[in-house]
Amino acid sequence: MTQGGSSVAEVRALLAALVATKPQGRVAECGTAVGEGATAIVGALAPGATFVTVEPDPERFAIARRALAGTRAEVLNGSWQQLLPARAPFDLIFLDGGVSDDTVDLAIDLLAPGGILVKDDLTPGIPVEGDPVREALLRTPRLIGAELLARADMAVIIATRRA
Ligand SMILES: C[S@@+](CC[C@H](N)C(=O)[O-])C[C@H]1O[C@@H](n2cnc3c(N)ncnc32)[C@H](O)[C@@H]1O
Repeated sequence: MTQGGSSVAEVRALLAALVATKPQGRVAECGTAVGEGATAIVGALAPGATFVTVEPDPERFAIARRALAGTRAEVLNGSWQQLLPARAPFDLIFLDGGVSDDTVDLAIDLLAPGGILVKDDLTPGIPVEGDPVREALLRTPRLIGAELLARADMAVIIATRRA
């Protein structure tokens, strides 16, 4: 799993397509890094939608804030676990930093009913059972999820919170 790298182009295209389904949506990204995923999201944001992205690393945060200056992205420095609950609920969350089986439940708490959660950076071909993050996303009754290949070497999970 990447720690500070940017999302791949296929995932950014997927995010843009999903963001466009939420014209009044509240969109959040956990882990801005240098803002490449956020740039794709903000480019697909409808006029009625909002977007907040959170990054704890001060250098990456500074780069992202510059890259996203003048856009409608709200770029925050800190951890999403601390900063996003006050801004919830969200209609779409890109869960791309600070993810563990322990934090998935909090991310689901932050979703509105019908809200979508996207998790990338998964190694393809790993069974759900025995993989804590996959189990947390795909075996919870709170979500209806699917794992897809974004490209040959990367799987993503897209999961919707039950209404
Ligand atoms: C894979 S990178 C994010 C890439 C970015 N989303 C993109 O699409 O270009 C993961 C980022 O998550 C950040 N991160 C780690 N723990 C975090 C937390 N608790 N809250 C928010 N971000 C976190 C890391 O510092 C790192 O920059």
